[in-house]
Amino acid sequence: MKNIKKCVFPVAGMGTRFLPATKANPKEMLPVVDKPLIQYAAEEAVAAGVETLIFVTGRNKRSIEDHFDTAYEMERELEAKGKKDMLAILRGILPKHVNCVFIRQSEALGLGHAVLCAKPVVNDEPFSVILADDLINFAKKPCLSQMVDVFNYQHCSVLGTQTVPKESVSSYGIVDGTEVRPGLMEVSGIVEKPSIKNAPSTTAVVGRYILTPHIFQKLEQTERGAGGEIQLTDAIAALLKDQRVLSYNFEGKRFDCGSKLGYLQAQVEFALEHKELGKDFMAYLNTLAGENNKKIVSIKKKA
Ligand code: G1P
Repeated sequence: MKNIKKCVFPVAGMGTRFLPATKANPKEMLPVVDKPLIQYAAEEAVAAGVETLIFVTGRNKRSIEDHFDTAYEMERELEAKGKKDMLAILRGILPKHVNCVFIRQSEALGLGHAVLCAKPVVNDEPFSVILADDLINFAKKPCLSQMVDVFNYQHCSVLGTQTVPKESVSSYGIVDGTEVRPGLMEVSGIVEKPSIKNAPSTTAVVGRYILTPHIFQKLEQTERGAGGEIQLTDAIAALLKDQRVLSYNFEGKRFDCGSKLGYLQAQVEFALEHKELGKDFMAYLNTLAGENNKKIVSIKKKA
């Protein structure tokens, strides 16, 4: 089977949970410290060996295209001022060998439909999917690289999963299956956003997929499911009948940046790890803790 050289980024969603911030700006362009969410996702794909980034976009998403394009005017100005460090940041967003393709998803028909929109570019190759909302911090290896290792060994679709609290199962695609070794499961079923009662497990798919191209055939046959949308989860359930699918509990900490709380948690932890800011930010948090008798109190009464 071919290597994973392509990654699909479904970025057409409206991001209503972050209004008004996302009224005119895509949610994928929200920064965590100094980088937009979509750049973390692109870097994760590139680190895993991906060479073609396929963005499935929608209205109001032009700034994503601009972000991955050359900013001539800014480059010229920084060059003239001799600001080499800034110039390097600007030019280093993506390595030269990486290409970007933008496809418009003209109807909001869901994640499955977004992935299907990428079919003409993916063609007949296994490929990856990253949901930029799910930001994953890692100690040793980025999440998609870990999954590519599993794929290269097992040659089948791999879903990135994590155990979630029981009361959260209704927010995720939940898998059922048998463990083949610690962290790796042979998937026998998958269901989109089940109730606690109907959830087959607490193993949730969290925004990372490696899929064989056979998924396109399944997506073409998938009817609208939960929320009236064409669900990727339903197509994976159909894929399971023809092919092996594994779920892999990756190592790393995942932040749900589609929620305000998860986004704020990501800001704090990424800021603490930031090369230039980390120390000062830690000192600031300690000052806050001191001011509040060793407790950081988040709700301050208005005077
Ligand atoms: C999507 C998928 C779901 C998955 C989740 C991960 O749901 O449909 O299966 O578990 O992403 O974040 P969404 O969060 O877009 O509703």
